[in-house]
Amino acid sequence: MNKRAIDDGDEVYVPPGKRTTHGIVRRMLEQRYELGARVGRGTSGEVFRIAVDHYTDTPPAQPLVVKVMVHKAYDTAHDRKSLEEALDAEVSAYGRLGSHPSVARFVEGYHLAAQGGYLVLEECAGGTLDKLIRATPFTLTRTRKFARQLFRALVFFQLHRVVHRDIKPENLLIDAESNLRVADFGLAHLYEGAKSEAGGAPFENVVTTLWFRPPEIVLPELFTEVTESYEESDRLSHSYSLDIWSAGCVVAEMAAGRALFAADNTVDLLCRHTRELGTPSAGDWPEATLYIDELHNSAVALPPPPRPWAEHPLAKQAGEIGRDFLAATVAYVPRLRLCAQYALQHPFFDMENTNAVAAS
Ligand SMILES: Nc1ncnc2c1ncn2[C@@H]1O[C@H](COP(=O)(O)OP(=O)(O)O)[C@@H](O)[C@H]1O
Ligand SMILES: [Mg+2]
Repeated sequence: MNKRAIDDGDEVYVPPGKRTTHGIVRRMLEQRYELGARVGRGTSGEVFRIAVDHYTDTPPAQPLVVKVMVHKAYDTAHDRKSLEEALDAEVSAYGRLGSHPSVARFVEGYHLAAQGGYLVLEECAGGTLDKLIRATPFTLTRTRKFARQLFRALVFFQLHRVVHRDIKPENLLIDAESNLRVADFGLAHLYEGAKSEAGGAPFENVVTTLWFRPPEIVLPELFTEVTESYEESDRLSHSYSLDIWSAGCVVAEMAAGRALFAADNTVDLLCRHTRELGTPSAGDWPEATLYIDELHNSAVALPPPPRPWAEHPLAKQAGEIGRDFLAATVAYVPRLRLCAQYALQHPFFDMENTNAVAAS
């Protein structure tokens, strides 16, 4: 399914009777707030502006939205479990992360097991990064500003042992001051020491939206060195690199104005990877040849390996530095991707360097 179809992000007035809230969750919500227009919709929730706070009978002092996540009559047991896990992951992640300038601001949450719940967040008036990318071509300065804010958020996540697992432009919001804030922790994985709390196993292949899904999630069996034979502590640190891949894809999308890997299915995704990154060799990682076999078995002709990233708009805008930034973040092997902290030290974020290249 085209990811854009899930998330229109356009404001819609939905009459109260048609809203997907129901039962106790709906009563709790309606006692507390009067809802306004719907500002967004994703895979697990609908997001409405809050028109009136019934505690004060006035609009909230800060513009607020509520993300409503409730079970629907036709939900399967699997859907119910996913929604429960998503709510648990969101409430736990916001609770652990607290306040950060590059994370959506959480106000309160209500979770009633077996019914669903809601989360109240400060509204990000600029909408999603996705909408902004589609509305206007980005200058290099703007791409770099949002990239810096995104990678700062990822440093913060690692500090708090949170892997987001669904970094994509629809989950990155722009606030009233035009700053990027990461939202939607429904697929987040929280570690407690060597053990994990909310959000299932770290390498489940259901995580991340297809276009932003790294190779180790698409074909986990070809990355056994990461997922099985590593010490637990290494597995922890390499799972953060999952978000680095997706974040690199977002930076590429900002520069190009279109998604980097707009794949229809898994095989198409792998082919698109090889087209951008070149064909992996056994020197990259031991199972790389099996990766190639996987593509051959699917009867897809491999394109000739190009000079990776040379043709990408970011390489055109920021030269060798832009090319290197993509190569260092959107890299096949998880342990070879820059960690968020080092990514921020990449010359791509050095204004003078990249401006000089862009001007030359
Ligand atoms: N704080 C917010 N301010 C403005 N819009 C928001 C906010 N939170 C969510 N949205 C909108 O709602 C959409 C769905 O929210 P999200 O948390 O991603 O839900 P889902 O888990 O269903 O994908 C977002 O893509 C965005 O358009
Ligand atoms: Mg979302």
